Amino acid sequence: MAISQIISLFLLHLLLPLASTSLSQSSHQLICEVGTGNGGSIGGTSPLPASLSKLLIKGGTVVNAHRQERADVYVEDGIIVAVKPNIKVGDEVTVLDATGRYVMPGGIDPHTHLDAEFMGTVAVDDFFSGQAAALAGGTTMHIDFVHPVNGSLMSGFEAYEKKASKSCMDYGFHMVIRHWDESVSKEMEIMVKEKGINSFKFFMAYKGTFMVDDAVLLRGMKRCKSLGALAMVHAENGDAVFEGQKRMIERGITGPEGHALSRPPMLEAEATGRAIRLASFVNTPLYVVHVMSIDAMEEIAKARKTGQKVIGEPVVSGLVLDDSKLWDPDFITAAKYVMSPPIRESGHNKALQAALSTGVLQLVGTDHCTFNSSQKAFGIDDFRKIPNGVNGIEERMHLVWDTMVESGQISVTDFVRITSTECARIFNIYPRKGAILVGSDADIIIFNPNSSFEINPRSHHSRTNTNVYEGRKGKGKVEVTISRGRIVWKDDELKVAPGSGKYIPMPPFGFLFDGIEKIDAKLVSSFKAPVPRFKSDV
Ligand code: URP
Ligand code: ZN
Ligand code: ZN
Repeated sequence: MAISQIISLFLLHLLLPLASTSLSQSSHQLICEVGTGNGGSIGGTSPLPASLSKLLIKGGTVVNAHRQERADVYVEDGIIVAVKPNIKVGDEVTVLDATGRYVMPGGIDPHTHLDAEFMGTVAVDDFFSGQAAALAGGTTMHIDFVHPVNGSLMSGFEAYEKKASKSCMDYGFHMVIRHWDESVSKEMEIMVKEKGINSFKFFMAYKGTFMVDDAVLLRGMKRCKSLGALAMVHAENGDAVFEGQKRMIERGITGPEGHALSRPPMLEAEATGRAIRLASFVNTPLYVVHVMSIDAMEEIAKARKTGQKVIGEPVVSGLVLDDSKLWDPDFITAAKYVMSPPIRESGHNKALQAALSTGVLQLVGTDHCTFNSSQKAFGIDDFRKIPNGVNGIEERMHLVWDTMVESGQISVTDFVRITSTECARIFNIYPRKGAILVGSDADIIIFNPNSSFEINPRSHHSRTNTNVYEGRKGKGKVEVTISRGRIVWKDDELKVAPGSGKYIPMPPFGFLFDGIEKIDAKLVSSFKAPVPRFKSDV
């Protein structure tokens, strides 16, 4: 470690007690800038370093979801101020040469669990290490799941505000609903109207902890609709999973393969179909997180064919992995692949890719929720105790490119759509995010399609000591990541400042709500009711 890095880390320990915990365990590749006057920003309030407040990206191919073009991109104070060919600038501007490269919006990961308390332990990546990893992989924003604390959404929000105070990139929040009463209903309104949350997630699995029943789901969906917030579901039949787990243990199947066997695709399909029907009954849009199987995907396809507003989010593990490793004789190797719904047998991945390329599924998340081998070992004698979750926040952009673009399944503009723009649109922050347009935040990557990547847990930036994509190589590389105008990743080096990330409030009533009231009105007018009746003589 260079002397300057040691000094930076020392200063950081003095200045930011919260961040110091993360950095003391953190990997070697981080260079942390601290608020020294001319350096990085702390708490998002300091000005950007002068050298980076004006930035020109020259000679690249700018790719948005709607088109690609040869253009330069000029950035001032974190905002894109010009996108056109041959922009001329003065000496005070930092110039990046993007010749032969794509200049694209930074990735937005709609599904992460940083610093999450889950299954009796805490995910190892917090809002600093997880985001640093994200930036190294070309993702510049993520949306994380806030859990209520002691039943209170507000306490949960405040706890996550604290966790996120060490952020080094922009982020938003979804809120999890775990029970129902009047105060939850009221707090949902506060979350939407005052706290910038426009989505609520309901777990249909994890019986005994997170799982809600249909009554809560229905009430929650109704409330979401009235607030213009998106209802999200983790769709697995939790009662049946519970039964499936018992069956496995009774048969002496206690290892990680029991995880997959206990919760087959039919249980994912059942819950997906049920949530879709309940959302149709309420007439509110639905977002299905981590679609892992053909069976669940087909439920979504069927609903979309009828015109129902259902969004399906596959995650990168479901797109590129299969379940074979769960049968590995080495427990730790197998356990690292345990997530829910499970990674399915080969064939589901290809079908999910096809669904993504044809618009049946809309955007790619990661469900990044990382645990070390020692945490995975909690379930050495019982797969039910293995903390569920895999990595992906750093790998998503490269793997989606290699799997989908390099194989010819999607175009470069589609790549931007499924990794960034669609997420921004669904969560109503487009075009501030998800676009390279005048006025958008300067969250930008410079991507070299002729370079290559290789994934290795010894060089990744996540704090976890394993990587489910270990050994994967492919074409394409994020060479530069720019987070609101700051170059945070270049020459394989991260320059990140804890506290420089901003919370991005997400307003309600996104495009998915357009026309909802017309469908309601049409339904009501089709009732031919109440029937004006007279009572015949008896
Ligand atoms: O296994 C998973 N997916 N872990 C994170 C929590 C969840 O279910 O999304
Ligand atoms: Zn889930
Ligand atoms: Zn998740």
